[in-house]
Amino acid sequence: MRAYIKGLGTFVPSRVVTNADLAEKMDTSDEWIRQRTGIVERRYVEEGTASSDLGCAATKAAAEDAGIALEEIDFIILATLSPDRFFPGTACYMQAKLGLPGVPALDIRQQCTGFVYGLTLAESLVRSGGYRNILLVGAEVHSHSLDFTTRGRDVAVLFGDGAGAAIVSPLEDGSERGILAHALHADGRFAEKLCIHGWDISRDPYMTAEDIEAGEQYPKMEGRYVFKEAVTRVPQVIHEVLAKTGHSVADLDLLVPHQANLRINEAVAKQIGIDPAKVVNNIQRFGNTTAASIALALADARAQDRLHPGDLVCLAALGSGFTWGALTLRW
Ligand code: UT7
Repeated sequence: MRAYIKGLGTFVPSRVVTNADLAEKMDTSDEWIRQRTGIVERRYVEEGTASSDLGCAATKAAAEDAGIALEEIDFIILATLSPDRFFPGTACYMQAKLGLPGVPALDIRQQCTGFVYGLTLAESLVRSGGYRNILLVGAEVHSHSLDFTTRGRDVAVLFGDGAGAAIVSPLEDGSERGILAHALHADGRFAEKLCIHGWDISRDPYMTAEDIEAGEQYPKMEGRYVFKEAVTRVPQVIHEVLAKTGHSVADLDLLVPHQANLRINEAVAKQIGIDPAKVVNNIQRFGNTTAASIALALADARAQDRLHPGDLVCLAALGSGFTWGALTLRW
């Protein structure tokens, strides 16, 4: 039995934050951000909005798109690196807000690869667990945990808030659609290359006043290192997942990569030799929305009539952990 994406929905907050807005807070410029990343603007939530709120809004859009009532959702997977609280899991908050008591709720923590890991998990739960409408959400509120001083400019300018959701269901029409293959990887030896160093449960207290003074409560990244890893491992994993079904890059109709940096996606496209017109990029409008980015890009492709029934689509990502992976599906 195959699983497929029965519905897709997204939600981004209405507040647009431009590069010029950020340049008022820190020593950066529209030119630097555009040249190095491609980002023009991103969305930020208003005070009082959590990742679960964005996730619920995207869920409602995905359920409507799938033509199901919320009550038909029978499993919730939420991918986020910006959970509402350290515990309990944000999927539980989302489940309560959606009014789905009793439905299993699972958080996964694979950062930028969260949507690819989550789809893989949803697919296997459909196949092995008999679930009929698995809700997969990627939701992030980054804007409440970034260092908006010049000290944090290398990371702060990159990220935006948003959510994407998919309803994953068994395919019952006998067609060739659905999720075909996946390839997942992780290498925790590189965990410190992109993480929040100040939050360390091996210490008592786990975060000190000195940490906060030094800005260690904010994410830190060795940008060049992560960039190099992304342009090496993402092409490899795309080839790996395609090989599983005997496909090649030439067979692909659409590549939907994680939106971390337009330059990364351009380099990946060049390396695998895909026509840039087949690569979906919307980082220009949303920045890096981590676990939400692939769903936002996939939904954009559909809205722009770039995604058609039967198309061979590859999703691919690398992020903190490191985690990386790719998944192919026929739309
Ligand atoms: O989604 C998770 C995975 N994340 C990624 O894949 C991100 C991968 N990395 C990147 O996208 C890039 O490394 C960045 C966009 C983060 C940075 O671009 P870069 O070309 O690697 O710049 P850099 O870090 O080497 O910094 C170059 C210069 C430095 O100044 P000096 O030392 O040359 O004087 C930085 O201090 O740019 C400076 N800089 C900035 N200047 C203006 C760093 N951030 C900024 C900024 N505005 N926002």
